[in-house]
Amino acid sequence: MSTHIGAAPDQIAPYVLMPGDPYRARWIAETFLEDPVLYNDVRGMLGFTGTYRGVRVSAQGSGMGQPSLGIYAHELFAEYDTHAIIRVGTCGGLSEKVKVRDVILGVAASTDSAMNRPRFGDVTFAPAADFELMRIAAEVAEERLLPMVTGGLFSSDQFYNPNSTIASTLAGYGVLGVEMEAAALYTLAAQFSRRALAVCTVSDHLLTGEETSSQERQETFEDMIVMALETIVRLDGGAS
Ligand code: HPA
Repeated sequence: MSTHIGAAPDQIAPYVLMPGDPYRARWIAETFLEDPVLYNDVRGMLGFTGTYRGVRVSAQGSGMGQPSLGIYAHELFAEYDTHAIIRVGTCGGLSEKVKVRDVILGVAASTDSAMNRPRFGDVTFAPAADFELMRIAAEVAEERLLPMVTGGLFSSDQFYNPNSTIASTLAGYGVLGVEMEAAALYTLAAQFSRRALAVCTVSDHLLTGEETSSQERQETFEDMIVMALETIVRLDGGAS
């Protein structure tokens, strides 16, 4: 057991899908995993382990924002020997290069968070995705004809951002979508020398005001989960 995860070490798989919403973790487990077992309900942050095409996989909620995700990702890497975490979430589109329902594979994550200040002082660390995970995910997305885009994410501490110009500034630097967790995930994966990737469907668009219906969100989310699970199967079968 770790402080926030009430599981024995062998109850969590080496590969973890991490949605923000704990009910999504349950939905992933019940929809896609064989023999899912609940291993955590501390603070309602549900975690399940089952198998997908013969590979053990866990689905663990992270909660919203980098401090919350940071707790779960840290404990998984530090105390459960998790090899890889794929964050599966939604983001707001920032750039005209993306439209709602696209799936962004987050190459890197800029942030307005101060979370890394105690780690690096004046140095600005560049949180980046694991290349191998990213390469496999891009391959799988292409094969499955998913509307995939690769590029930067903005991990903001503010869902309701009082800075009305930051989105367009970042879009001008190639950042595609805004969410609230990827930078902390990438930083922790780097700290523990593990693999991480954030994949996000564009649920709404800050430039166009376009939004997806809940039906569309569900369908796109489903496609993205299958892509993430197939990525894990391929990683398990090949990479070190
Ligand atoms: N901001 C932050 N996170 C999000 C957004 C957004 O607009 N949309 C989906 N996740």
